[in-house]
Amino acid sequence: MDRNKDASASDVPLLEVEDLKVHLNTPRGTLKAVDGVSFRIGNGQTLGLVGESGSGKSMLVRSLMGISPSIAKISGSVKLSGAELVGIPRKQARAVWGNRVAMVFQDPMTSLNPVVRIDRQLTESMREHLDMSRADARTRAVDLLKLVGIPEPEKRAKQYPHQLSGGMRQRVTIAMALACDPDLLIADEATTALDVTVQRQILDLLQEIQADRGMGMILVSHDLGVVAGRTDEIAVMYAGRMVEHSPTQDLFAHRRHRYTEALLAAVPRLDVPKDQRPRPIPGSPPDLVTFKGGCAFAARCTAADDVCRTERPVMTANGNPRHLSACHHPVAVGGETEAAEVEGAVKTAEVEEAVKAAEAEDTEATDVSEAPETSEAADSTAEVEEAEEAAEVEEADAPEPVETSETSEAAEAGDAADEADDEAEAEAEDAKPSLSKEVPA
Ligand SMILES: Nc1ncnc2c1ncn2[C@@H]1O[C@H](COP(=O)(O)OP(=O)(O)OP(=O)(O)O)[C@@H](O)[C@H]1O
Ligand code: SF4
Ligand SMILES: [Mg+2]
Repeated sequence: MDRNKDASASDVPLLEVEDLKVHLNTPRGTLKAVDGVSFRIGNGQTLGLVGESGSGKSMLVRSLMGISPSIAKISGSVKLSGAELVGIPRKQARAVWGNRVAMVFQDPMTSLNPVVRIDRQLTESMREHLDMSRADARTRAVDLLKLVGIPEPEKRAKQYPHQLSGGMRQRVTIAMALACDPDLLIADEATTALDVTVQRQILDLLQEIQADRGMGMILVSHDLGVVAGRTDEIAVMYAGRMVEHSPTQDLFAHRRHRYTEALLAAVPRLDVPKDQRPRPIPGSPPDLVTFKGGCAFAARCTAADDVCRTERPVMTANGNPRHLSACHHPVAVGGETEAAEVEGAVKTAEVEEAVKAAEAEDTEATDVSEAPETSEAADSTAEVEEAEEAAEVEEADAPEPVETSETSEAAEAGDAADEADDEAEAEAEDAKPSLSKEVPA
């Protein structure tokens, strides 16, 4: 995140999305998974994309990566540094996807091939997109593993995904996403499947890398707490539409949309009295095939009236041109929540998890027994850090998973395939005329 950067500071935004629609042709009819979404991301900026399950977050970001399902019809405009991506020939698009735009998924095994060694998986896209030699790509693969905090990267590079812990596998997929130095990195719930301390480490890693490289980033999460302290702007999605978009601090201080208000009330916070503990949003989103008009949140909104039920609200700036919301009866300006409060609240919840994890580790007498104990009143940053360190030690020293006959057979098959490929590649390279050799006249 670069808090000093302003999307409007650059004439050509890194990403400019206009009226993007992803409509799915399902047996029940057209499902409007993304229905007319517009936003921009400046160079070096981070956008948090939040919303409940089914709101269209993944369909949106997948369409930016060119990996929509075959039943999807995509329309509108997506420009990367001014160049249109919607409707361009597949070959041209491939040069962008995986190269200039890269993605990290929730489940690392979505991107990792279980029977191919880590180094080969990393070098593949570098060789394709960057035209690197095998040796250079392998060196870079080890450097990338080091960059994402994998201990003994040379050793790990030669292993298979099943030989790594979940957190390490996610680090490998981040290394893969970074392999071609993308301009835009998309992390779609990249930490949701990880335990809470590892989740925090991976989010910190993404944030550091984004800042170091000055990349644009889209951080997708159903959890406002995850994006609160890590983004420049937040876009809230509901039922395939964007309902609020604002600089992060302003969203928390002056949220306008009733759905954002409800999402915020659902964030677990241990720093508030019991009667203000998280309030899950009652009801569920509408069916995106049959939903017709009005505000999609109306059936769940306590402020809904006849206007809400019949007229679809459009994104409007209420005073601040950078803060847009689509609500007929917005929350009064002057909400009191600061982003830091929400972030802090989530940290407190994390501490509780971390304490539980540390206690479980203690009883199992693993090699983290030397990690300092966390106290019952673990609410200080130092204690969070201690718990994280313990988790890091655990990750680094995690015994390698026991190989099942299936995984070892697959690995053997993979080894044989790798060796055959290596030999074929070496032969092909030998057969190529070398630039240093004298070519007979
Ligand atoms: N392959 C598919 N076929 C049919 N409908 C789909 C398909 N993929 C997604 N959908 C539907 O599209 C809508 C948007 O889904 P999407 O996966 O984008 O939601 P999401 O916001 O990413 O949710 P989550 O937080 O659970 O990941 C949902 O109604 C979902 O059921
Ligand atoms: S438009 Fe109406 S129903 Fe929709 S969120 Fe606003 S007040 Fe609620
Ligand atoms: Mg999703």
